[in-house]
Amino acid sequence: MMYPEVRLRRLRRTPALRRMARETRLTADAFIAPYFVVPGTKVRKPIPVMPGVDHLSTDVLVEEARRLKDLGVPGILLFGLPETKDAKGSSAWDEKGPVPSALRALKEADLGLALFADVCLCEYTDHGHCGVLEHGEVANDASVALLAKAALAYAKAGADVIAPSDMMDGRIGAIRETLDEGGYTDRAILSYAAKYASGFYGPFREAAGSAPKEGDRRGYQMDPANAREAMREIEQDLNEGADAIMVKPALAYLDIIRDARERVEAPIAAYNVSGEYSMVKAAAAQGMIDEPRIVLEILTAIRRAGADWILTYHAADAARWIAEGRTP
Ligand code: PBG
Repeated sequence: MMYPEVRLRRLRRTPALRRMARETRLTADAFIAPYFVVPGTKVRKPIPVMPGVDHLSTDVLVEEARRLKDLGVPGILLFGLPETKDAKGSSAWDEKGPVPSALRALKEADLGLALFADVCLCEYTDHGHCGVLEHGEVANDASVALLAKAALAYAKAGADVIAPSDMMDGRIGAIRETLDEGGYTDRAILSYAAKYASGFYGPFREAAGSAPKEGDRRGYQMDPANAREAMREIEQDLNEGADAIMVKPALAYLDIIRDARERVEAPIAAYNVSGEYSMVKAAAAQGMIDEPRIVLEILTAIRRAGADWILTYHAADAARWIAEGRTP
């Protein structure tokens, strides 16, 4: 059968029919909201390159998390900006550091949110690389040992899910072993498995103060041109014990999300990163686009590609728009 018997417009004719024909449903259940935690109290400092995102001290973060929870967002992911940095990034596993302090406060507040802790050294090293340097190179195995220490500190402080974003080889296995030996067999690992060396992280690096002083991250993050390699990364991390995997960034890598969906049964997260966020905010501020419409369209596309979870700075706004009944 074909046109004129078949007319696909019939099921698009009314809002009710369109609602019933909709294949992908965007709900706040998929969202994980990232936050930048800083030392101190009563701090809410806007991040100019990411309009609408602020540096928050722990006390303010707890209030923000309460609002997020009321909007129906189930998860939050924490990044920390430490008081001091050094060559090894030792503030990353300081139990009094911003992330462990925030985790303890959030646990105490008992909001019922899933607490994700990003694990990486780049916010904590004075050189800004995601691992430690030996002879000017990022040393894989020495870095893995330190990342595992940070993961353990976050588990101790109450993280439900450890999310390593460093892209060292073998870190998932090492973190799993360290968590298990420490008695944290019940904590999950969300691996940033297919993380590309992307220009879309630009605003984040300003927000987190984590840009490398010299060189770039191409020696450990993936080449944007590669798709098959992403499947190898994902397979490795699942074999090492990852409970869920991530593709990052999201929008320019929807094909990778789809490839992953076709191959793995584990939950797939996609990170709608800072550059994707800031481009939308900048265009909306100029009156060039309709922000709610564009955001819901982007997030729906990421789900349609096959992602179960979406890390997004739009989480609170999008949850509100969805509750208001808006669709892309
Ligand atoms: C740390 C890390 C980065 C992001 C998440 N974890 C930056 C990077 O790899 O340089 C990016 C998040 C974003 O852009 O929103 N390794």
